Amino acid sequence: MSLRYVVQNGDPVLREKCAEVTKFDKELAALLADMKETVRAENGAGLAAPQIGVPLRVVVIDVFEGFFELINPVIISQKGEQSGAEGCLSVKGKQGTVCRPYKVKAEYRDRHGKKHKLTAEGFFARAVCHELDHLDGVLYIDKADEVYDLPAEDNG
Ligand code: CO
Repeated sequence: MSLRYVVQNGDPVLREKCAEVTKFDKELAALLADMKETVRAENGAGLAAPQIGVPLRVVVIDVFEGFFELINPVIISQKGEQSGAEGCLSVKGKQGTVCRPYKVKAEYRDRHGKKHKLTAEGFFARAVCHELDHLDGVLYIDKADEVYDLPAEDNG
């Protein structure tokens, strides 16, 4: 495992439409290990592969409900809405107010290629929506009602 550099807004990789994973191999496992180490070191709620320069449809989410590895994830239904604060490890020092669905259902594959579904609500749903947007080159600042600077020591 190794800690990876998190690319920042302005890097073109963050604007790519990421490719589906087709090989569920050791290389994917190594990518997931690096993403887990990096998101934990950065105290993030989630990280998408393009944020470490890899344009593949791979996301990790680290929330109260658990640690999730989502490969080729797709939102299959959504319900309600919530407006709240959001930040991104690729947009350091800023936060914004973003409206998201309150509840989402998603389909994804695990590291072995097996299909699963999940249901997420509240902050977990927000994290799923935020991270899946990264896979299509979308950042929260594209959707935020307002974006503001955080105090220097609090780099959400
Ligand atoms: Co982000």
